Amino acid sequence: MTTINYVEPDGQTITVNVENGISAMEAAVRNNVPGIDGDCGGAAACATCHVYVDPAWIAKTGTASSDMEKSMLEFAEEVQDNSRLACQISITDDLDGLVLKLPEKQH
Ligand code: FES
Repeated sequence: MTTINYVEPDGQTITVNVENGISAMEAAVRNNVPGIDGDCGGAAACATCHVYVDPAWIAKTGTASSDMEKSMLEFAEEVQDNSRLACQISITDDLDGLVLKLPEKQH
């Protein structure tokens, strides 16, 4: 199990323990984390799973690199350099303790 921390816009942190191999979007949806909808089911086609990766973790998650993710992020609100689509972050042991901040709104 890997621990992921989701930080809501009000500062509240929701910590979940999830199995490896699923995405950070699926981990949020399965654990009812508010603010991540995952409307497209993880196909990088809706941008309702926008998160900000805590700067301390960006080396491990990487930045948005695929053309599909980058172009979909253009539809997200207030995109920053550390913006990712949570459905494109696959949970592994390396991400144990990952901190993802949620935007004020998804769309
Ligand atoms: Fe739709 Fe991530 S769930 S873009």
